Amino acid sequence: MSILLFVNLKGGVAKTTNAVAVAECLADSGYRTLLIDADHQCMSGELLLGEGRLLNCERKKSTLHDLLAAMLDDEFRSSQFPHYVIPNASDIGGGLARLSVIPCSFRIDDFSTNMAKARRGHQSNDQFLAFFRNRREVMRRWLHANYDFTIVDCPPSIALQVKVFLMVADAFIVPSIPDRLSVRGSLYLHERIQAQGIKIKGMGTLWSLYRDQNKMHHKVIEATAKGVEPYNQLPRPFGTVIPNAAAIAEATEPGRKPKTFNAKYTPPFAKLYHSLSGEIVQRSQWQRAESNGAAVAANV
Ligand SMILES: Nc1ncnc2c1ncn2[C@@H]1O[C@H](COP(=O)(O)OP(=O)(O)OP(=O)(O)O)[C@@H](O)[C@H]1O
Ligand SMILES: [Mg+2]
Repeated sequence: MSILLFVNLKGGVAKTTNAVAVAECLADSGYRTLLIDADHQCMSGELLLGEGRLLNCERKKSTLHDLLAAMLDDEFRSSQFPHYVIPNASDIGGGLARLSVIPCSFRIDDFSTNMAKARRGHQSNDQFLAFFRNRREVMRRWLHANYDFTIVDCPPSIALQVKVFLMVADAFIVPSIPDRLSVRGSLYLHERIQAQGIKIKGMGTLWSLYRDQNKMHHKVIEATAKGVEPYNQLPRPFGTVIPNAAAIAEATEPGRKPKTFNAKYTPPFAKLYHSLSGEIVQRSQWQRAESNGAAVAANV
């Protein structure tokens, strides 16, 4: 159905924590879900697969870095995608049947250098991106055919792989603490996307790490709701706000083996993630209907 990026140029705003929880929630609700870890820190891959399975992917060279490299080959076929996809991800109930992961590798930082070394003839990032522009439809089609939702956890930068996914995705979600610096990171992202002429929709701002005692948090949320400059440039915030809560941070601890999504996040926060996921499903449907309408209008 939708390929969604979790992205903000500000670090530490809970992109990974929320991308993982939303992916688990969607999968637990019956949607075929894929999480792609596009961050060299490899955190969402580790949270969903554990250290052992992640190391195994690194050893077998079945990470996002290796997939992008394979996609440069003229003979690349979509039947190769499953090699990079690890099924039954998450520690919930020993693994969720509908959740898969493409983990990242620290090697992704040297992607262009590695490719140049492999003498594939794509010497610069620009050359790679120009080439990938012709390949993006292969990836989009495969993701849309096999998953209801693809969630891409991005690093806090416009790294090469983020540029790739900005070309592939349907929309982006911006997790942001309701404070000045995090909002700035979101506005910079907006500027960069516009400057590069990338046509991707902003699905929503996700207020994260919210603290009720913090007056600045109240002010920013209110100013955004009223459409005050520069907050009116942010994608329309989701109604669900994710608070700063020990239970959410603790859910990421290894070795807990929770039986259910509710048990992992505790009922009040599991309920919040269900509400957020419901909003994401609804906005995805609206955006799809809008795109289909535009496509029909263009063909009339
Ligand atoms: N709702 C929450 N309540 C309390 N702590 C949280 C919450 N969400 C995330 N955290 C903690 O905040 C820190 C940053 O979270 P996270 O790694 O998800 O951010 P990020 O935006 O992905 O960071 P980066 O930019 O480095 O990728 C982590 O220590 C995480 O456990
Ligand atoms: Mg992260």
